[in-house]
Amino acid sequence: MSLQRIESLPSLPPRPADSNKGQFGHVLVVAGSRGLAGAAALCGASALRSGAGLVRIASPAEVQPVVASFEPSYMTYPLPQDEDGLIDFEAARPRLERLAAAATVVAAGPGLGQSDGILAVVRWLLESSGKPLVLDADALNVLSAGHLDLLGRRDQPVVITPHPGEMARLVGDTAKDVQAARVDQAAKLAGRFEALTVVLKGTGTVVTDGRRVYVNTTGNPGMATGGTGDCLTGVVAAMIGQGLPPFEGAQLGVYIHGLAGDIAKDQNGVIGLIAGDIVDALPDAFEHAS
Ligand code: APR
Ligand code: MG
Repeated sequence: MSLQRIESLPSLPPRPADSNKGQFGHVLVVAGSRGLAGAAALCGASALRSGAGLVRIASPAEVQPVVASFEPSYMTYPLPQDEDGLIDFEAARPRLERLAAAATVVAAGPGLGQSDGILAVVRWLLESSGKPLVLDADALNVLSAGHLDLLGRRDQPVVITPHPGEMARLVGDTAKDVQAARVDQAAKLAGRFEALTVVLKGTGTVVTDGRRVYVNTTGNPGMATGGTGDCLTGVVAAMIGQGLPPFEGAQLGVYIHGLAGDIAKDQNGVIGLIAGDIVDALPDAFEHAS
């Protein structure tokens, strides 16, 4: 199978003067748990700064007020939780169904934790939500534990955004072997499932759907700091919410996220850069890219 190298970047269409928020996607973020409210907040704030018309964040009940406190421009929803503070899927299902029904795209995983309940959330998103998905972090970690076949049990497109360690767990390899053949590894995984886009993160992030491949040129080592991946998940979801197909949405999202990282580096340096700086730099990144 030969991979087509993509060099050109897609762009978001210009907004008509009479635009309304219903045209730019309703992003549902399913993220966060005790001590990891920031992962949900960074993901949601990044989706907002990437042009999403509406962002809703669903988190375990105890962290919902914390998530809400970070940003007044998204809406937050408490979900029933288990004794460990993670989402109790059976109890949360009716609310998740309503929230997903109203969404254009669902981003899930950052800071969710891992449990049978979280696996049930991811299984339900894949098998029953019917919405395009961006899966990251713990949404991938629960699939790694013997449930990768769930990626084949759905009709909608899915983007997964593993870092090399998550990728290694998904494919049952070592991170070293993943890093030694980044394009091949990502393309092979993408090729195993219909409508799957794999975003293998790290220097020169690889975006592939198994037929096409894009290797990103933006970003810097200052981005090697907690929370930057959660930002990317929100950016990519916002691109899909605004109508870009999954491969193109992932491509532009990865490029813009890296460009925001480069702008944040200019302002804060490689050492001082934190994930929140990337959220703050997203508007400039979109201005520069257009
Ligand atoms: N050059 C360019 N980009 C980089 C570099 C680099 N040297 N280092 C990191 N990045 C980018 C990656 O490409 C990716 O977009 O920063 C982001 C880091 O994403 P993650 O590795 O997912 O990091 P993050 O989610 O913030 O890390 C914390 O993620 O998966 C969970 O459990 C894991 O606790 C961990 C958590
Ligand atoms: Mg991550």
